Amino acid sequence: MAAKIISGTEIAAQIREELKKEVADMKEKHGVVPGLVTILVGKNPASVSYVTGKHKAADELGFFSIQDDQPEDLSEADLLKLIDKYNKDPKVHGILVQLPLPKHIDEKRVLNAIDPDKDVDGFHPVNVGRLMIGGKEAKFLPCTPAGIQELIVRSGFETAGAEVVVVGRSNIVGKPIANIMLQKGKGANATVTVVHTGTKNMDAHCKRADILIVAAGVPGLVKPEWIKPGACVIDVGVNRVGEKKSEKTGKMVPILKGDVDFDAAKEIAGAITPVPGGVGPMTITMLMKNTVKSAKTHAGIE
Ligand code: GUN
Repeated sequence: MAAKIISGTEIAAQIREELKKEVADMKEKHGVVPGLVTILVGKNPASVSYVTGKHKAADELGFFSIQDDQPEDLSEADLLKLIDKYNKDPKVHGILVQLPLPKHIDEKRVLNAIDPDKDVDGFHPVNVGRLMIGGKEAKFLPCTPAGIQELIVRSGFETAGAEVVVVGRSNIVGKPIANIMLQKGKGANATVTVVHTGTKNMDAHCKRADILIVAAGVPGLVKPEWIKPGACVIDVGVNRVGEKKSEKTGKMVPILKGDVDFDAAKEIAGAITPVPGGVGPMTITMLMKNTVKSAKTHAGIE
């Protein structure tokens, strides 16, 4: 039987509806408006498109938002000054510096400069540590892993006691989703294996997975024989493999391919996310959720 297709687009829309109500309620009862700042240095086309999407979502939810676009040659010192300004601005509850940064800027120094309590990306070492400790300590989960957890839970897959195999060990997806899945509590409590470029017999590990999360950045890496029949497969890969003319706009748009051989895998898996329309729409939605959480914490709202 063909797999159920997990629509990130639909689940993201559901969560945004919930957030919209929450934001309206915060405004009405407490006069609090969530505030989000993005800082984009340069004009990397993928980054421009991501940042535009983030502001579109923020506007739809009724946030206060600032799109602070800066020139490619902005100095590191000036970027640090900007961050400091927003760290001190009480209207701003979330600060996001779009990555990658130009080569002359030290990414680590920049991420470390963001107030951990406004770090809605969850990339600051303090928030990485909070996630490791888990429970209530885990303040801002990084957006893509948090979105993956929501997709699994809202598709009705049981994580408790499940064999979860994560392919890839990046700081943005692989390591944090592995950590989230091994925490105690709802949507977690799994037995977690992480496989990576140093792993022998990657296929054998994947074949054991009740939930297979693939974030390797290698198009079509996971073959259908690697998948346990009925497994939940989450494909985080967004690989640009070419360009095509958009039917809607007539403009050239990238052709995207996931890390999983989708057409073959959907005949074996129980459920699978498509690319695009799977994990992608969830990332921005979880950024919005983190910003609402931050606004509530700053305002002392339960
Ligand atoms: N670049 C690509 N994805 C992301 C993200 O989630 N956050 C930031 N800050 N930069 C990115």
